[in-house]
Amino acid sequence: MRKLLFPSLCLALLSACSAEQSNQPTQDTTPAMAKPGELPGMPLKSLADQINLAIGAAVETRHLEDPLFRQVLIRDFSQITPENEMKFSYVQPQRGQFDFSKADQLVEFAEEHDMVVKGHALVWHIQNPKWLEETEWTKEELSEVLEQHIKTVVGHYKGRVAYWDVVNEAFNDNGTFRETLWYQVLGEEYIEMAFRWAHEADPDAVLFYNDYSTEAMGPKSNAVYRHLKALLDKGVPIHGVGTQLHLMSEYPIGEASIARNIERFSEIGLDTHFTEIDVRMRDSEGQAGLNDQAKHYETLMKLAAYYPEVDMYTTWGLSDKYSWVPSWFEGYGRALMLDKDYRAKPAYIAVQDVLVDAVTGNFGYEPITDLSNAKRHVTPFNAKPLLSESLNAEAVVYYPFVYNQLNGKDQRLPGSETVSGKWGVGYYKNKLIGQVIRSDETTVTNHSLVHENDNVEVFIRLGEQYWQLRSIVGQDFAPLGFPGKATGTWSEDGKVFDFAIEFDDFEDLVGETLGFNIALSDNDNDTDDGNRKAQLYPLTGNNVGWQGEEFGELFMNGQNAVVSPNPISTPPTFSMSQLNEAPSSAKDSVWENAYRYSFAFNQLNQRDMSFDDADVSGSWQVGVHGKWLYGVVERQDDVTFTGAEQSYENDNVEVFVQQGDKDMTQFRTVVGEGFEPTNYALGYEAQWHKEGTQLMFAIELDSELKDGESIQWNIALSDNDGEGRKYQLYPVPGSNMSYLGEELTRITLR
Ligand code: XIL
Repeated sequence: MRKLLFPSLCLALLSACSAEQSNQPTQDTTPAMAKPGELPGMPLKSLADQINLAIGAAVETRHLEDPLFRQVLIRDFSQITPENEMKFSYVQPQRGQFDFSKADQLVEFAEEHDMVVKGHALVWHIQNPKWLEETEWTKEELSEVLEQHIKTVVGHYKGRVAYWDVVNEAFNDNGTFRETLWYQVLGEEYIEMAFRWAHEADPDAVLFYNDYSTEAMGPKSNAVYRHLKALLDKGVPIHGVGTQLHLMSEYPIGEASIARNIERFSEIGLDTHFTEIDVRMRDSEGQAGLNDQAKHYETLMKLAAYYPEVDMYTTWGLSDKYSWVPSWFEGYGRALMLDKDYRAKPAYIAVQDVLVDAVTGNFGYEPITDLSNAKRHVTPFNAKPLLSESLNAEAVVYYPFVYNQLNGKDQRLPGSETVSGKWGVGYYKNKLIGQVIRSDETTVTNHSLVHENDNVEVFIRLGEQYWQLRSIVGQDFAPLGFPGKATGTWSEDGKVFDFAIEFDDFEDLVGETLGFNIALSDNDNDTDDGNRKAQLYPLTGNNVGWQGEEFGELFMNGQNAVVSPNPISTPPTFSMSQLNEAPSSAKDSVWENAYRYSFAFNQLNQRDMSFDDADVSGSWQVGVHGKWLYGVVERQDDVTFTGAEQSYENDNVEVFVQQGDKDMTQFRTVVGEGFEPTNYALGYEAQWHKEGTQLMFAIELDSELKDGESIQWNIALSDNDGEGRKYQLYPVPGSNMSYLGEELTRITLR
């Protein structure tokens, strides 16, 4: 916990402090009665100073001409960030011609009032001058331009600007590098170079990487973490990481996940700054929105007060009078702690209260950071927020129906000629809105047992309770004791099923992680007993969903919402067999009784993970013998392409193996070739047969597996038909991050 710097100072302030405490949040305080710019209680900065926390605001020179703005800024804030006037297009509008007139005014103002300045931002992809964007650069030239820019700007403010946002927003939300001008011309090294040049220009400056949607654990913050860690290992001068925090009042924030993220950066020696806080509200929101907003500001201040590693809390603006929000986010506004007349909003009071507690020793807050249970072996399915109650195909993610859980150890897809389908869900407020698209030649709905008919089942779990909602093709959901309303309609031809499930116990589903599964059943009236031949799920399992078991998870995504740190349910993972002997080929009889699964989820398409089996399809099996893991892959592909320069772009199979806490290894075999070299210390080998339709591989493990033991695992089949990779099919959903050791599933010896 953060140490109080000057406990005696607080004593001097105590009367003010405790007076403030009784002056509790929203209702009793009537900000409307205060005069514009009149703020209650202790100035934020005099409190924050005592816990060594800078409290800041983004500022432009024009704002300083507004007397109330100046007055409040000077009274309450100890730090400023130029909102725009240090950006590339402002300071170097023409090549080689620097204009510091505006930025200088801000720095002078800060010096006059004893404020710290954070320079923003040296390298970014927005607000760059025309000349920079419109030139066709060579690597050498652009590198020179960037070096000169950074050295001139940082050099100009040497000793005066204490902190810099050196690189801003270099990653995409899925953790890949953003394809900016810098990245395209200079490659990922531009990040490292920028930090080195900034450091050369002012060795005392504290240098930050800054980005948005990186406050919590997730693919984007993982990417930032990994990249900065690698740069630190190389000795690159990076001192901290800024997370912007442009939030929305209507979405809860993941406190535990933010806390854990601060800690992991701290573990590698990096401080965290909250750099651009604003919490926007819908224009239609009233007091409830203001209270939600206050909660967000409060939680962030608690984290800042708790962690000494968080030493800057900066809001993106000062009052609602000037803010980028209304012009950038239609229908939203009022994102700051002060209203447009510089009166305290609930957010201001909440932040002040946290600070008062922190300086008076009444701060009992401790964040939960134990995310150890969060190790999931199947990435949750994703439901996105919709703009209305109708399902917009653009806004949902479609997943395929994949495993025939009626078929024992062989759970392969039955093939599109039998039955196939995909499903997608989104949500609007407290309604889950979904669609199933089904392709089936023969529709059977007259079996006397309802579940033996062609139908769709949706499984939902909330805590200890679960529901199975079934709709026979052509009919609505059968009524059952679900606490809400479930309705479904089928298209005339039985191909499309639209459904809505309304939850009484929720106002809004955002941020929830539900237990979930969905199944598509197929009876073609051609089995011996007249029963179904397939019940397809998006997860492997034993068809015991109706008993409340083997549910997967559905995450109700939304900006800044995070998946529950504790898995809501643990969907079954994959199985492998003990082989009596080492298999001699892919056709060896030892494979006959081994578990068999499809390649099914195309992780290259984050909107629709289904695929067309006319392009490619395949299955895989794994077994062990002694210390060796054996596997076979069957592959059907209309065009085999292996001519791409990057081997991962070729038709290939990748196997991801991680035993215990050791490093994950990714083994790749391009069709027709052996495994590519890796630094795996033990043996590994791959062999293709029959013109690339069969692969057998063997990987030596470092210890023999016992029954019931698992390894972390994944396997992918890539397909390129000559125009770039089309599919990379995995047995589980995910965002194609297994190569980084993320989103692995498990395979267990049974
Ligand atoms: C914004 C400014 O607030 C606007 O005035 C300007 O038009 C665009 O940029 N992330 C950042 C900030 O790092 O620089 C951006 O500031 C907001 C998003």
